[in-house]
Amino acid sequence: MLLSTTTNKECHKQKAYTMPERRPFVRLPTDVYPVNYGLCLKPDLIDFTFEGKLEAIVKVNLATNQIVMNCADIDIITASFVPEGGEEINATGFNYQNEDEKVTLSFPSALQKGSGTLKIDFVGELNDKMKGFYRSKYATPAGEIRYAAVTQFEATDARRAFPCWDEPAIKATFDISLIVPKDRVALSNMNVIDRKPHPEDDSLLEVKFATTPIMSTYLVAFVIGEYDFVEGQSSDGVTVRVYTPTGKAEQGKFALEVAVKTLPFYNDYFNVPYPLPKIDLIAIADFAAGAMENWGLVTYRETALLIDPKNSCSSSRQWVALVVGHELAHQWFGNLVTMEWWTHLWLNEGFASWIEYLCVDHCFPDYDIWTQFVSADYTRALDLDALDNSHPIEVNVGHPSEVDEIFDAISYSKGASVIRMLHNYIGDEDFRKGMHSYLLKFQHKNAATEDLWDCLEQASGKPIALVMSTWTKQMGFPIIVVDQEQQGDDRILKISQKKFCASGPHNGEDCPNWMVPISICTGEDPGCTKLKVLLDSPETTITINNVSPDQWVKINPGTVGFYRIQYSSGMLESLLPGIRDLTLLPVDRLGLQNDLFSLLHKQADMQEEKNRIERVLGAISAPDLIQKVLTFALSQCTHNTP
Ligand code: BES
Ligand code: ZN
Repeated sequence: MLLSTTTNKECHKQKAYTMPERRPFVRLPTDVYPVNYGLCLKPDLIDFTFEGKLEAIVKVNLATNQIVMNCADIDIITASFVPEGGEEINATGFNYQNEDEKVTLSFPSALQKGSGTLKIDFVGELNDKMKGFYRSKYATPAGEIRYAAVTQFEATDARRAFPCWDEPAIKATFDISLIVPKDRVALSNMNVIDRKPHPEDDSLLEVKFATTPIMSTYLVAFVIGEYDFVEGQSSDGVTVRVYTPTGKAEQGKFALEVAVKTLPFYNDYFNVPYPLPKIDLIAIADFAAGAMENWGLVTYRETALLIDPKNSCSSSRQWVALVVGHELAHQWFGNLVTMEWWTHLWLNEGFASWIEYLCVDHCFPDYDIWTQFVSADYTRALDLDALDNSHPIEVNVGHPSEVDEIFDAISYSKGASVIRMLHNYIGDEDFRKGMHSYLLKFQHKNAATEDLWDCLEQASGKPIALVMSTWTKQMGFPIIVVDQEQQGDDRILKISQKKFCASGPHNGEDCPNWMVPISICTGEDPGCTKLKVLLDSPETTITINNVSPDQWVKINPGTVGFYRIQYSSGMLESLLPGIRDLTLLPVDRLGLQNDLFSLLHKQADMQEEKNRIERVLGAISAPDLIQKVLTFALSQCTHNTP
């Protein structure tokens, strides 16, 4: 979790937040850039080393006698440059800048503008750090200890496997070959196009993979080990395999079912086909993250992919479905269209963390998965983001050491929550239209957060960039204070916003404002939004027509808005019948309960008000038990049944 030393006041300014104590950092020069990486790797699974050969087709933009690339923990043996139709020029020096994870190759004469081939022979270690090209330990069914060689490159560790331009915006195609023991499985992003014995050692095979589409280095992957697999075909013609430890193929069947359902869902939702001929999902014994969306070869921690049909519980199945849904969403959102820089990582992860639920809800409607979203991601994000040491979703990132710090609950859970609010504000039809045009416009390229807002703005005619910048560029969220009055057949609501702070009420000075999409429902039809407004000022008055005096009015149906609500005493009491007769839907009761808990603990200092809140909480359930049982109980019951 990122710790900030910046004061609250500074964080409220509407500009991208900068991480404290930044190390100096400059991006790679673009005078020489890659077009195609021809990469051959030969791992030694006994000595834990690897040999590599890179033949990269590069373009020289500006005559230079230096090439600067990323490189870490790799020893370059030889390097040369062959200009197209010219003589090979050997590099005379390799100057490693270890702190910056870069190497500068120096040439005796200037490389002229045009194309050429950069050839580098190098060696490295199959490390035990679970990043770059690393070794993963496993036991054979007979109990013998062996090692697989696997990769984890996001965010900035491709440079530990081969010298490269390891920035998301420097895309190129890849022709990958692996030299492996002939009894091992060798996988990479693409399908195998050739497999032949190694000319010098007949215990080895040279496996050649098809050329990838243009892609970022952090999405490249290879795996060499012993695995079984189950295979299926999605309705849109993609070959799907789930690789498991040997003898456990049965445990890959559930993930295969999820993947085969998920690919057509995204194909249809985005209206853009999955661009590769195959996708492999593989369980890796030693894995640092939960899963990684390498294009065409998604790697998983075993618990995020394998389901024992006899012993796994339903929450394990739900987790596998969500993780598969998340990583497959990245195949479009992240892989096909990639963030221009790590500053936009929140969008990548926040988006996937939202759409994984949309996908699972579509493929497995009986899971009632959105209730899990509210109890897991949404309430967690509200709790964390109410702290003084939270940070805005959008963070300016520079040095690689800063990138890992932003893979946190604010990027994931708040990111997902504000995308969910945005989707609800726009409506599914226009949201899909905007997504389609974004993916089409930026496919095989890079994009920034604002590019998505532009496309959604075009599709919806709503001020998306203006609304969203209040949620992504400032930390925290508002508490919406509501009071009501009946005037004839109309209900008049007085609504205001102020920053919600866990440490106590905001002092009011320089209080930030949000552009808050607000939905309202009534007891007449609790599942249906009666009115939508955009609160773009500190306070406003709203008239809801045709609401009889005996009907309750509730803000935020579906618990979609990223804010807390403080009802007047009268409004809160009026909700009691809807709570008691369960006409108030489970996610609404859950949201209300969570808001009341946070108010009870932090904001309500009046005894009378506390008693009132406790009465309502008591009606929802026994307050001391509710946190523990709610997630489970709500996931078990369908709407409106206790
Ligand atoms: N891209 C991430 C994996 C990642 C995380 C790489 C951190 C490098 C550093 C992947 O898409 C992801 O988000 N994985 C999640 C699981 C997901 C279901 C939330 C993870 O690993 O926790
Ligand atoms: Zn992700």
